Amino acid sequence: MPNAYISGIGGYVPPDVVSNDELAKRYGIDTTHEWIHQRTGIEERRYAAEGVGSGEMGYYAAKKALENAQMSIRDIDMIIFATLSPDIHFPGTGCLMQRRFTELFEGDMPRYVPALDIRNQCSGFLYGLAIGAGMVQAGTAKHVLLVGSETHSAALDMTTRGRTVTSLFGDGAGAAIISATDDPKRGLRKWQLGADGRGAEALCMRVWDITKRPFIDTPNGRDGVGVIPPEIMWPQMDGKQVFRNAVEKMCMSLMGVCFELGLSAEDIDLFVFHQANMRINQYVANSLGIPENKLIHNIHKYGNTTAATIPLLLWEAVETGRLKPGMKVAMSAFGAGYTWGAAVIDW
Ligand code: ACO
Repeated sequence: MPNAYISGIGGYVPPDVVSNDELAKRYGIDTTHEWIHQRTGIEERRYAAEGVGSGEMGYYAAKKALENAQMSIRDIDMIIFATLSPDIHFPGTGCLMQRRFTELFEGDMPRYVPALDIRNQCSGFLYGLAIGAGMVQAGTAKHVLLVGSETHSAALDMTTRGRTVTSLFGDGAGAAIISATDDPKRGLRKWQLGADGRGAEALCMRVWDITKRPFIDTPNGRDGVGVIPPEIMWPQMDGKQVFRNAVEKMCMSLMGVCFELGLSAEDIDLFVFHQANMRINQYVANSLGIPENKLIHNIHKYGNTTAATIPLLLWEAVETGRLKPGMKVAMSAFGAGYTWGAAVIDW
């Protein structure tokens, strides 16, 4: 049975840099750099231009990952697209990204690469890794393209009312190619995933509530003219609950995979944590005795990019030479759902 390893990695962030001060200046939000930086570690984030969505940014990241793996999109057997900010409600953004690769449909032999969307928020990359690696290990795919892409900026409450959530999130995309290998020194060693749906309301966006008739309120019975109140339109969060659960579940899943592999913090070369709040990651690192020099961060420049965060970190680590073949990487994430996960890879 082959194992799965990451043969290529790529990322993309949009060029518009929005500093904490600019949230106040550009949008009139009553906030300060000190408030945001002290509580989260965020200094700035990127916002996509109007007209650019998760499918487009995912495509740019995917092209970089394919280039890094020295592959063409025609080599890919499966696309997995992780996002909480899809371009439209349906069809899935995986299909919308796939059709940008026009070379798939050229010539006499079109390649209809299947495209699967997954909805696991900040844990999306780790859930996608488990699915993609499972397909590779089962021999049903040789190369899986896993993309995490988010366009949060279009769906954040850019007023003082929404400042707690709005100050946290940024846009970006990351991609990885999960490939088969017979090399015993490389590959995914273990993953662990978890979910607790009882925490769903602690971080959610209910704009599409299909349990309602009609699912968007139409005052005065005006067919097709709906009104969405702000608490439905914008994401809502109980920050303290999310914080507590993130620390607990990230520690638990990371300890779980390391225990199963008989590893301690000393055996790991690089820890790649989801970036929701610098303080969450400091708590996790302190609780598990992980030294600062084994951590990598991007929250200061990108904020929380949800499913894109882990591949963006891996991409940067590879680009800067911090992550090299032969190193042992431990990853952990927690997000809305609640969902969480951890994984260890020999790079
Ligand atoms: N600027 C200035 N003041 C603010 C801001 C802001 N950006 N945001 C909130 N405040 C104010 C609040 O209005 C409140 O004022 P009040 O006391 O007058 O009512 C005060 O600051 C304290 O607000 P809290 O929400 O209690 O602040 P807290 O200390 O909990 O910190 C934070 C908020 C940073 C969001 C923290 O709770 C946190 O990071 N939680 C985890 C969030 C997280 O990880 N989310 C992502 C999950 S991943 C995913 O799947 C998407």
